[in-house]
Amino acid sequence: MSQAILQTVNLKLAFGAVVVADGINFELHEGERLAVIGQNGAGKTTFINICTGLIQPTSGTVNFDGHNITKLAPRTIARRGLVRSFQLPQLFLEHTVRDCIRLAAAGKIGRLGIWSALSDAVSASEVEHVLEMVGLRERADELSALLPEGQRKLLDIAMALVLDPKVLILDEPTSGVSSDEKHGLMKTIMGALDERRITAIFVEHDVDIVARYATRVAAWISGRIASDGTPEAVLNDPEIRKNVIGE
Ligand SMILES: Nc1ncnc2c1ncn2[C@@H]1O[C@H](COP(=O)(O)OP(=O)(O)O)[C@@H](O)[C@H]1O
Ligand SMILES: [Mg+2]
Repeated sequence: MSQAILQTVNLKLAFGAVVVADGINFELHEGERLAVIGQNGAGKTTFINICTGLIQPTSGTVNFDGHNITKLAPRTIARRGLVRSFQLPQLFLEHTVRDCIRLAAAGKIGRLGIWSALSDAVSASEVEHVLEMVGLRERADELSALLPEGQRKLLDIAMALVLDPKVLILDEPTSGVSSDEKHGLMKTIMGALDERRITAIFVEHDVDIVARYATRVAAWISGRIASDGTPEAVLNDPEIRKNVIGE
């Protein structure tokens, strides 16, 4: 198999007595759609935070695209092409949908929030294209604060797409969205990832969504990866059925 685009080696971290990363060895390969599952508190978000530079591990390393990125700042990591979204979308609520995307793009050149710099960050046609990909073109002039949850999630993802990621990590992209909206949301996200050839990790609780959209699944239990493999293998693993899926 090709060299991993993202790799962690023996990541360790505890918050007080709670071990949140218990020696995590992990590899992600180009083109994968990896679903991360695990109960609340298992350490999924902490893993993402460590990979993207928000939290430093006590020990262990994160390698991305052939380089050790463990001690780099989040923005530097994002500029290199490892981008994440948040469980609760981080929007600029007082700005329009289009301007949220333009502001996010400005972060790419390190001048977040400076309007005079916006024109250099990304072309107007790229902004329109990203709006189109996530289906928000018709709402581009509305305040982002007015969007319903599903469209907030899509805007958050559009703000990640404009950074031109090689790898995108989505923390619970369908949380807070009604079950009938989840598939539509995932189809839009997957369409954008396919079009841009972006490798992706998504944290997801809904087993149907995992089975439908993941090429691989990694299951977290108490800061360790308890099972990692095809969706069929992991979702039928007795330990995972008992302790993660809850049957
Ligand atoms: N900054 C922090 N300080 C202390 N404890 C934290 C912090 N962030 C997360 N935790 C704890 O670490 C554990 C793992 O959290 P998290 O990674 O958010 O889990 P998950 O995303 O799988 O639900 C939880 O017990 C949580 O309360
Ligand atoms: Mg989480």
